[in-house]
Amino acid sequence: MAVKFYQEQNQVPLEMHKVRMIQKLSLLPVEERLKKIQQAGNNTFLLQNRDIYLDMLTDSGVNAMSDLQMAASMRADDSYAGSETFIRVKEAVKEVFGTEHVLPAHQGRACENILASALVKPGQTALMNFHFTTTKAHITRMGGTVEELVAEKGLKPQSNDPFKGDFDLKRLRGIIKEKGAENIAFVRVEAGTNLIGGQPVSLENMLAVTDICHDNNIISVLDASLLQDNVYFMKTREARCKYMDLKTIYHLLADHFDIIYFSARKLGFAKGGIITSKDEKFTKMMVEYIPLYEGFLTYGGMDVRSMEAMAQGLYESLDMEYISQGPEFINYLAKELDDYGVPVILPAGGLGCHLNAGAFVPDMPHDQYPAAAVAAALYIASGIRGMERGTLSEQRNPDGTEPYAELELMRLAVPRRVYTLSQLKYVADRVKWLWDNRELIGGLEWVEEPSVLRFFSGRLKEKGYWQEQLAEKFRKDFGESL
Ligand code: F0G
Repeated sequence: MAVKFYQEQNQVPLEMHKVRMIQKLSLLPVEERLKKIQQAGNNTFLLQNRDIYLDMLTDSGVNAMSDLQMAASMRADDSYAGSETFIRVKEAVKEVFGTEHVLPAHQGRACENILASALVKPGQTALMNFHFTTTKAHITRMGGTVEELVAEKGLKPQSNDPFKGDFDLKRLRGIIKEKGAENIAFVRVEAGTNLIGGQPVSLENMLAVTDICHDNNIISVLDASLLQDNVYFMKTREARCKYMDLKTIYHLLADHFDIIYFSARKLGFAKGGIITSKDEKFTKMMVEYIPLYEGFLTYGGMDVRSMEAMAQGLYESLDMEYISQGPEFINYLAKELDDYGVPVILPAGGLGCHLNAGAFVPDMPHDQYPAAAVAAALYIASGIRGMERGTLSEQRNPDGTEPYAELELMRLAVPRRVYTLSQLKYVADRVKWLWDNRELIGGLEWVEEPSVLRFFSGRLKEKGYWQEQLAEKFRKDFGESL
């Protein structure tokens, strides 16, 4: 914490920026919220933003831009080929990662589409600490499979371990030996690890993974979408990083990974996607897919104004005062909840605060979707939109059975530089109320279940009438309050 308060008990994370533009929010009465979540098929993706007070669905594409980003976006050069804007993006990528070769794509999953198209052959396996929904979908689309090698500590909801996204290196070595390097499409490190609570990977573990890859002639890939949070944790939790400046850390990573890609909807506080590499041989494997799927090589499907904002946002990723805001606010929220006894993922990671829905409603079976039920209940209780990250976010097995998620999480993403601390106090207050009334939360069942990425657009309904009872209890406890 950079600024120490005189009265220790008043210590809070302090923003090193001010707000100069605002957007009005509204909070519907609880009876309306009940109606809206039911109309949305109990799927928070299907709620309309006008019906939401705090949108904590995601940290993707919703981060506040700085004055310099807004200013940069005005000087965009939208020529189809050879645009100045792309040169500025390349310069920013070079500054942050030290890499020369840059492919643009419209967002993170577009990078994944290209990676999978170029690198995955049917029957091959991609090894990773943990899958991400879109990553896995692209690899399986190409006939590949995904194997997760996160260390056991990563799946423990609460511990003191600072790097729960680390690979189990022994298993990594073992599985390469067992399958043969030629059957491994690539090894992907996701830093931080989205679906297990935005948990970081240590520098030491990442370098060990890339060493194993090099020894076995396997391509190493870094998903850097959440890297700015991860770098914050390296700086604050890993002794060897304490005196390294941020750029040194990013460059060290780029020196070791063959390919880096990221969603600039997270890294860079803007929108878009980038694949980059020190060695042209890797970008060459993928370059032909850019004009085919994305757009010409100097814009890749991105809007040039977003590209300019991304370039500036990348420079801001080197500023500790900017990158610490998200993790420090998340830590504040997680601590408030943990002190009250609410089960949250600890230590807090990046991206958001994650409620352990499995412990929130421990008797609810996986196939009634506890994390989605808690998300629907919290919207009714507060107008806050969170996201299910559990069994519902998984894809059914080919035989129709459900692969139960190892962690049933309800994520409250904290968009960077967007919400104030008083708004986070409101979040904590309503989650605590819900915790005290958790016996009212019931399960969900399908009304319409899509076969691919079902969590985006599937519709469910409550089992019984628990949602009406929850709204009634809210009215009783809060009187006229919204
Ligand atoms: N990789 C990671 C680690 C991500 O968190 C995401 C997106 C992607 C890749 C895909 O990037 O959205 O630009 O296509 N995560 C968002 C989220 C969607 O809400 O967690 P994208």
